[in-house]
Amino acid sequence: MPGISAARMMSRCEALAACSEQPGGLTRVFLSPEQRAANERVLAWMREAGMSARLDAIGNCVGRYEGQRPGLPALLLGSHLDTVRDAGKYDGMLGVVAAIECVHALNETGRRLPFAVEVIGFADEEGVRFNATLIGSRAVAGKLEPEVLDAVDGAGVSLRQALKDFGLDPARVGEAARERQEILAYAELHIEQGPVLEAKGLPAGVVTAINGVTRLAAEIDGTAGHAGTVPMKLRRDALAAAAECALAVERRCANGSDLVGTVGRIEALPGAVNVIPGKARFTIDVRASGDAARASAVDELCAEMKAVCARRGVAIVLRKTHENRVAACAPWLMEQLGAALAAEGLPVCRLPSGAGHDGMAMVDLCDIGMLFIRCEKGISHNPAEAITAADAETGARSFLRFIESFRAERR
Ligand code: GLV
Ligand code: MN
Ligand code: MN
Repeated sequence: MPGISAARMMSRCEALAACSEQPGGLTRVFLSPEQRAANERVLAWMREAGMSARLDAIGNCVGRYEGQRPGLPALLLGSHLDTVRDAGKYDGMLGVVAAIECVHALNETGRRLPFAVEVIGFADEEGVRFNATLIGSRAVAGKLEPEVLDAVDGAGVSLRQALKDFGLDPARVGEAARERQEILAYAELHIEQGPVLEAKGLPAGVVTAINGVTRLAAEIDGTAGHAGTVPMKLRRDALAAAAECALAVERRCANGSDLVGTVGRIEALPGAVNVIPGKARFTIDVRASGDAARASAVDELCAEMKAVCARRGVAIVLRKTHENRVAACAPWLMEQLGAALAAEGLPVCRLPSGAGHDGMAMVDLCDIGMLFIRCEKGISHNPAEAITAADAETGARSFLRFIESFRAERR
C-alpha cells in the first residue's frame, strides 16, 4: 500500500527507544527530559506527515490533519509515549507511530476525508512517576481531578511542580479537555501484550473490552530494631507482614477465573541489612473482566491483609490510588475494525484486553475501539518485547483501511 512504510515505523520506534533515562535500556516517565526529547521527534513527524502539531496543556503531543474542510469533528487516533521502567520499545509507541504513518499515507496522495483525523501521543498512561495513571488521557477526557496535581513522585516533586518545570502551567491543565461534539471516536492500535494472537497464528485482532483495574498503596508500620538482638517472637517486622500480604494477593487471585493480582513494588525502611524493617510500603494491582468480581476480590483482600497485620501486631493503611471500571469497545467500531481486517484478507479474531489502555479514560469522552497487533510470546513490560516489521505493516495497513472507510455513529 503506498505510503505505509514498515521500515520507517520500526526505525521510529528505535528512535523513541533512544529517549531513555538509562543507556542500553528504556525508561521514559511523565514530564521528564526524555519525554521532552521524544515529544520533539513526534511533533516533527506529525508535521512531516501533513499535520499541524502542538503540545497540549498536560504535555500530550496532538497532531491534526484537516478533513475536506477545516474545523470538522475528528476521529482521534493514538496511544502513549511514556513507558514503564526497563520497558519494551512498542508498548504505546507503536500506536503513535502507526497512526502518524496512516496520516502520512493519506497526505502523500492528498486524500482528505469527510472528517478530521487527529493523532495523540499521550504523555502519561503507565502512571509510573506519580502513583496516578492515565493522566494524559484523563485530561483530554476532562476527567482529571484537581487533587491529582498534589500527587508527588519518589523524589517528593509534585505533579504541579513537575508541570512547571516542564514549561506547562498547572492552572491551565483543564485546557487539554476536548469537547464531545468535536470528537467522533477514539481508536488505538497497540501490541497485544499477551499470547492469544500468536497462538492463533494471526497478526492482528479486534479488542472487545479493556479489563477493569483497582490499584492500592499499602503502608505497614511495625517496629525497627536490631537484627541481632530482638528475638523472633518479639518482632513487629513490617516487611515480613508485607510479604504475607503479597502471598495473600497471589492466593486470592489464583482462583481459576480471569482475576489477576500483582504486588509490583515493595520497599522496606529503613532498608539496611542489620535492621528489622520498621515500615514497608507496597502496591497492589487487581484486574478482571468483570467489575463485580474485581470489587469483591479487592474487599476480601483488604480484609485479609488487615487480619494478617492484626495477628502480627503491625498497623496497615490501605489507600486506593486508581480505579477504572471495565471499558467496553463500541460494537460499531469493532465492526468497522473487523471489516478492515477482512478487507486485508485476514480472519477476524475478537479478544479482550488484560492490559490497561488510554481508552479506559477516553471512554468518558467518546466511543472507543482498539486493534491489537501480535507480539512475540506475549512478552511486554519487559525489554524483550518484540514484534515483526511485517505485523507492524499489516496492522498499519488495516488501520488505514479502517480510517479511510470510517463512518461515524454518534452515541
Ligand atoms: C498499562 O500498561 C497497564 O496495563 O498497567
Ligand atoms: Mn504498558
Ligand atoms: Mn500501553
